[in-house]
Amino acid sequence: MTPAPLRFETLRGDALRAWLPRLVGLRVAVFRDWPYLYDGSPGYEETYLAAYADSPGAAVIVAIDGDRAVGCATCQPMNEAQARVQAAFRGRGLDPARYCYFGESVLLPAYRGRGAGVRFFEMREAHARSLGLPAAAFCAVTRNDNDPRRPKDHVALDGFWGRRGYVRRADVSVVFDWQEVGDDRATPHALGFWVKDPL
Ligand SMILES: CC(C)(COP(=O)(O)OP(=O)(O)OC[C@H]1O[C@@H](n2cnc3c(N)ncnc32)[C@H](O)[C@@H]1OP(=O)(O)O)[C@@H](O)C(=O)NCCC(=O)NCCS
Repeated sequence: MTPAPLRFETLRGDALRAWLPRLVGLRVAVFRDWPYLYDGSPGYEETYLAAYADSPGAAVIVAIDGDRAVGCATCQPMNEAQARVQAAFRGRGLDPARYCYFGESVLLPAYRGRGAGVRFFEMREAHARSLGLPAAAFCAVTRNDNDPRRPKDHVALDGFWGRRGYVRRADVSVVFDWQEVGDDRATPHALGFWVKDPL
């Protein structure tokens, strides 16, 4: 049986705030897997996602099955993003004011391979253009190729991102701390940037 098509909405401000309780579990569920291995807590997630509702230029694209959120993708002007993201760009002589920063995209595994990831990019890029931003960037965790925790069947997203027109900027990176599954404290993780300029 063909699954029902997903619905996609671009949410901001109060409309986004109303959906937050339905979004908090998504990052925790999806980022628990390789390559993030993130041991997230709903309490932190609520605060984290609420920042997008408070950020005037931000939007979250939500993938909806019936009335259930099954995925989401975030974006905001880099000028409104965390200071360390802006600093990573400034440190390489790049102007954060030109970029829309795509924080993350997460989709429950059962819904993958049906075009939602492509749609997330299209809708975030449309939002960036509506704000007059000429470029977009996002980052992804850097893992060693020989990391024994890498699942044998894991397919890296590099090809998918390249086909969307994004180019890896090996010289631009940022460090975020999070607790990995099985650890008892947060540890630093390096994330490398991908850029599309112009959009
Ligand atoms: C990133 C993520 C959201 C992408 O979702 P997805 O469902 O795999 O993405 P899509 O289905 O749109 O795209 C995957 C491929 O399927 C293709 N596709 C598009 N429509 C399709 C359809 N109707 N049926 C089957 N495949 C389709 C796409 O074209 C794409 O292939 P291509 O790159 O060769 O063009 C998902 O993999 C995920 O949540 N990953 C874990 C979290 C993560 O690492 N996020 C990124 C860092 S924040």
